[in-house]
Amino acid sequence: MKGKIRTVGLSLILAVSLLAPVSGQELKQIQLPDPKLDQSKPLMQAIKDRKTTREFGPGGLSQQTLSNLLWAAWGINRPDSGRRSAPSAHNRQEMDVYVATSDGIYQYDPKANSLIPVASGDLRSLTGMQSYFRDAAINLVYVADLAKMGNAEESGKMLLAAMDTGFIAQNVYLYCSSEGLATVYRVSIDKPKLGEAMKLRPDQRILGAQSVGHPREK
Ligand SMILES: Cc1cc2nc3c(=O)[nH]c(=O)nc-3n(C[C@H](O)[C@H](O)[C@H](O)COP(=O)(O)O)c2cc1C
Repeated sequence: MKGKIRTVGLSLILAVSLLAPVSGQELKQIQLPDPKLDQSKPLMQAIKDRKTTREFGPGGLSQQTLSNLLWAAWGINRPDSGRRSAPSAHNRQEMDVYVATSDGIYQYDPKANSLIPVASGDLRSLTGMQSYFRDAAINLVYVADLAKMGNAEESGKMLLAAMDTGFIAQNVYLYCSSEGLATVYRVSIDKPKLGEAMKLRPDQRILGAQSVGHPREK
């Protein structure tokens, strides 16, 4: 199907070898390919098909899919101004998207279109408190940096960060819908435990997580 990238055969080997460092080695920064912006089904169809899916099949995501997904989520869509694919209150751009893979957790760097290593090891199980998401290829974790949000009360910052997270998560929902991928957003997370594994600073807050993977074949 047009635009539907499944990681099979050579692409599976490629994706695994590029995303997976040899066991015991430090994670390395991953330079993603440029996002491809011409593959999606029409927006109205993507909205029609948008849904939460909690059943995931096997298989990873190619680096191209990951690049497209992250660009749709929170990439820079206007390079001249550095503005993003999702809106943010006062254009603070306080959100960071982290990617938990079978090898470790990376932070998405939209400027360099790369993944910066944060913690090694398969920490995907820490990104939620239910079990369904453990079969998902990746889990995105949405983190607000309150230090970028000025001097407002913390409750006000958290409200705006929650709104900003919603826009990013919906971009992911629509990308997944357009590409036939399965996704579920959640807030049911042991945040202190995950925050510790991600080495977050005290003014960084986890707002939510979102699994992305291939749907389980019926
Ligand atoms: C703010 C928010 C929090 C959510 N938290 C969870 C969660 O912790 N666990 C879960 O399985 N689904 C969670 N969901 C997914 C919802 O249950 C799901 O969107 C809802 O059942 C509607 O299904 P639909 O997305 O297919 O329309 C959450 C959704 C939102 C918007």
